[in-house]
Amino acid sequence: MNIQPIATISKATNAVFYGVGLFGMTGLLQTFQIPSMIIGPFSPRLLVKINSYLIGTVWRVLQTVFEKRKKGHITFSGDIVPANESALVISNHRSWTDFYMIHSVAIRRNMLPNCKYFVKDSIKWLPFFGWGMWLAGFMFVRRNWLQDQTKINKTFASMKTMKTPAWIINYVEGSRFTPEKSQQCQALCRERGYTTTENVLLPRTRGFTTCVKEFQNSHIEYIYDFTLAYRHHSKNAEFNEAPDMVRVHTSALSPEYEFHVNVKRYAIADLPTDDEGIAQWLRQRYVEKDRFLAQLRDRWTDGLDIPVREEKW
Ligand SMILES: *[C@@H]1O[C@H](CO)[C@@H](O)[C@H](O)[C@H]1NC(C)=O
Ligand SMILES: *[C@@H]1O[C@H](CO)[C@@H](O)[C@H](O)[C@H]1NC(C)=O
Repeated sequence: MNIQPIATISKATNAVFYGVGLFGMTGLLQTFQIPSMIIGPFSPRLLVKINSYLIGTVWRVLQTVFEKRKKGHITFSGDIVPANESALVISNHRSWTDFYMIHSVAIRRNMLPNCKYFVKDSIKWLPFFGWGMWLAGFMFVRRNWLQDQTKINKTFASMKTMKTPAWIINYVEGSRFTPEKSQQCQALCRERGYTTTENVLLPRTRGFTTCVKEFQNSHIEYIYDFTLAYRHHSKNAEFNEAPDMVRVHTSALSPEYEFHVNVKRYAIADLPTDDEGIAQWLRQRYVEKDRFLAQLRDRWTDGLDIPVREEKW
């Protein structure tokens, strides 16, 4: 049999898949979003629910492409994460693909539609998807924490009164890991007497501290601490090298790439209550992350403890 037509067919299926996916999605968002805005004033809770559902549908398509079509093979370790549980989520930030790793757990725990990110204020003006994020209760930020805090407090206040199920996802390092930023952070750590880290940056504590204080005694009772790791099987690959956007959408990811997600679960009630105590707690988590990643760097263990992998979705 000739290989050529198969490749062509596969390309065509890809194009159709994305075409239908994206246009269908936009159409769907448009069809439901406008009626949902009319519902808004009468039932804010339903408005959030509908828009979370719509965004969840888009996430689901992306996750299906990553895990099923492109065979992104993700392994898991750490604590058991119950289904339907709201949480503050913190994670190391390595690559734009990090959201697939967080969503891999969310989708298996029925929380994919409830993933809420801090996003740039300008995204609010993006038709459909941006509006959906806004209506679903994402946290919009400019850059200035003081300026943003009133707005974020308002978003959080409505989440608390409506008991909106949520994973509030915060990459507390503030930006993606790069060797240059790592050098800067190590210098800063030495200056301030903190433990230095090689695989993560020094976390920024202010936003996290506010989140913890906001959600003490609310329906969000846990913190999930994610550590994400990438492995690229190639001679000169750096540890933790993630595939870029083009690579994710070309050929199969497995076995060339491997992905690992470690989750630890902490009760917010067990955290310190003062700012400095919370900040210290957070820095300690990042020191632990660093050690975990260093272990993986030296010896990527196959068959890590796997609490969620077997779940179907
Ligand atoms: C989670 O919620 C869904 C409905 O939203 C329900 O069908 C499912 O049984 C729940 N799972 C658990 C473990 O509570
Ligand atoms: C926002 O909430 C935090 C925590 O509850 C509080 O410390 C802060 O003063 C609030 N900020 C504004 C601007 O309302």
